[in-house]
Amino acid sequence: MAERQFPKNFYWGAATSAHQVEGDNHNDWTEWEARRAKFKVTSAKLKKWPDYILNNYPNPLQEENYISGRACDHYNRFREDFDIAKFLGHNAHRFSIEWSRIEPEEGKFNEKEIEHYREVIRALRERGMEPFVTLWHYTVPLWFRDKGGWVNKKSVDHFARYVRRIVGSLPEVNLWITLNEVNIYTGYGYWSGVEPPGRSSLVSYFFANYHFWQAHRAAYRIIKEIKKEAKVGIAHSVTFFAKNPIKSFFWNHLFLKSLGDLQDFIGVNYYKSDRSSSSHTDLGWGIDPEGFYLILKEMSRYQKPIYVTENGIADACDSMRTKFIKDHIEAMKKAMAEGVDVRGYFYWSLLDNFEMPRLDGFWPRFGLVEIDYKTQERKIRPSAWEYKKMIEEHRYG
Ligand code: BGC
Repeated sequence: MAERQFPKNFYWGAATSAHQVEGDNHNDWTEWEARRAKFKVTSAKLKKWPDYILNNYPNPLQEENYISGRACDHYNRFREDFDIAKFLGHNAHRFSIEWSRIEPEEGKFNEKEIEHYREVIRALRERGMEPFVTLWHYTVPLWFRDKGGWVNKKSVDHFARYVRRIVGSLPEVNLWITLNEVNIYTGYGYWSGVEPPGRSSLVSYFFANYHFWQAHRAAYRIIKEIKKEAKVGIAHSVTFFAKNPIKSFFWNHLFLKSLGDLQDFIGVNYYKSDRSSSSHTDLGWGIDPEGFYLILKEMSRYQKPIYVTENGIADACDSMRTKFIKDHIEAMKKAMAEGVDVRGYFYWSLLDNFEMPRLDGFWPRFGLVEIDYKTQERKIRPSAWEYKKMIEEHRYG
């Protein structure tokens, strides 16, 4: 039995984001995908792909791979998916709200869609799972994009209006994540331009970051006005940089530091480090659990509770996932034993889904649950049962 290092109320679960799983969204990404799919297939043809990737549907050489379309149809199947999560021992779940559903036209809110998310939250609570709700995970409504997106200084007011409405409508939520991975999004969207809005300019990069910073601050204050005791933070993409403190400062710390005390916890999304590694995920990312331990230690400098808001592996054969989760939980345990205040762990992801960063699409398989994209059939992977055992050992051990 594992020794008891985990507080009883530690949150164990998995994460998703709206556009990656819901299906039938219509936002800035939907249009970007339609425009880029052909090009993505052409460039995929220049690479050599293993059979275990090509044998899946869709695969990187098919246009459907790059069009989110129906995705996992989670919008209609969330109850079934939460039944699975509950069955797998999860006591919390992280998901995001799709802004383009809530405010499809500027200033016009869709009550039916707000009700949908109320039901999502109700469904989680009924199953004994605490909702961790992300307000923005990469996508924006088309009207917002057309007004210049995050480089428009009005973007802050637009976001704040949406936040007021949605948070005011969901008073039962205790944990809010305002923004997901601003560093990844502005890097790909405004610096290298490989993602929406496809800009590549230092000036836009700077202004987008600045407006995100203001947007978080505004959202933090609004949430606290509505519910003083709610806890608010961001989910931040961190990488362990072994020999590059300057890079680490810019990538891992600058944004978090700039938020100062307007964050109640630090949300950490960890996938990789810059060290060389002998094992790699299907996306070619080196696996480094020790880097996880080291970055958690580094993050403890903020003296705030930490939630691991994402940690996961693209592994279509499910041959590495159990070890990946086990090793990362061990690393987290080690950090906790040395005093790091970690309060929850969310595996990315509950379901296979539409991989947005770099528009990789459906082929990377991150799920504890496998999705058959032809039939929408769900199949629980063996590693999901192993994760369940780990949760039980640590919860009751
Ligand atoms: C994001 C997810 C993404 C995952 C794997 C993070 O960058 O928050 O949307 O699917 O990591 O790349």
